[in-house]
Amino acid sequence: MTSNSLFGARMVALGTALPDKVLTNQDLEKMVDTSSEWIVERSGIHERRIGGTTAGLAAEAGQIAIERSGIDPQTIDLLILATTTPDRRVPATASTVQELLGLSCGAMDLNAACSGFVYGMIAAHGFINMGHQRVLVIGAETLRRLVDWTDRATCILFADGAGAAIIERTEGPGDLHGWHVNSNGALEEALYCDFDATIQMSGQAIFKNAVLAMEHAARQSLEMADLSPAEIDLVVPHQANVRIVEASCKRLGIPYEKTSMVIHRTGNTSSASIPLALEDAWQAGRVKKGDRLLLVGFGAGMTSAAAVITWDGK
Ligand code: COA
Repeated sequence: MTSNSLFGARMVALGTALPDKVLTNQDLEKMVDTSSEWIVERSGIHERRIGGTTAGLAAEAGQIAIERSGIDPQTIDLLILATTTPDRRVPATASTVQELLGLSCGAMDLNAACSGFVYGMIAAHGFINMGHQRVLVIGAETLRRLVDWTDRATCILFADGAGAAIIERTEGPGDLHGWHVNSNGALEEALYCDFDATIQMSGQAIFKNAVLAMEHAARQSLEMADLSPAEIDLVVPHQANVRIVEASCKRLGIPYEKTSMVIHRTGNTSSASIPLALEDAWQAGRVKKGDRLLLVGFGAGMTSAAAVITWDGK
């Protein structure tokens, strides 16, 4: 990370998983008083995927990342599962995923809402800095289980999915050049979900604060990396709403064309959304070795997190 680091770390492989079942805007038109046009215009979402368990989706994504990396899974020292939708209150769903993947390592859940994956990635760099060899970071969600399917304000947005990344020790300073994490608990009432209840949201309050939180987190991480927004090759933002990303990019002075977006086909998958968008950019050949990426998320709490990384090209 910096010249003070004991060990540098870099991302070496990705994996993702989406449920088979597609729920389109047209399907939602039959369930609540809405229209596909309204959903597309206000959010950018055309369809989303629902189904499965958080542990099942997480393990599927994690397995793909392990296979792509070619590493011995027994060399993974820690599994961090970012999720707002654990399968059980206890134990951590990370422990279930560890068993499904046959790993022998530490395992913990991390709830930083939709910023969770970036929080987890930054934490992984920290663990490696302190001596770990490899950390598997997964963002996985089954938000359909928290949605009130009669509430048109929220049921059009949230969905299920998972994305994973292997972070490993490397020679030199590693791929993380700047990072920032934040939370503003004063905004708790704008988006919350009580136990055995459904998601409650003030859409406009979240929208307004999300744009500001994204910009702030991005600027802080860019400052640490000593880079200007113009030096970023690709922005991989949390996929909550196309208009939030457009507005944040405008404030940062980064062209929207430099973003990787998958929200049109995934909906808002919370902590899975950034790895899903990163995988999409990689699959599409939009990232090459040495590119500078800005990963930036925000979510309930109101959390935000950003990381500036160099793409390793693996
Ligand atoms: N279909 C049709 N109309 C809908 C609707 C739907 N699914 N949901 C709400 N409406 C109606 C509202 O009732 C309101 O009607 P009214 O003017 O008669 O009262 C109107 O559409 C406008 O609602 P509003 O909330 O102002 O819309 P908006 O432009 O702010 O868009 C969101 C709503 C939810 C798409 C938008 O606010 C948003 O994305 N906010 C951020 C949410 C978010 O990202 N949450 C996750 C954070 S990680």
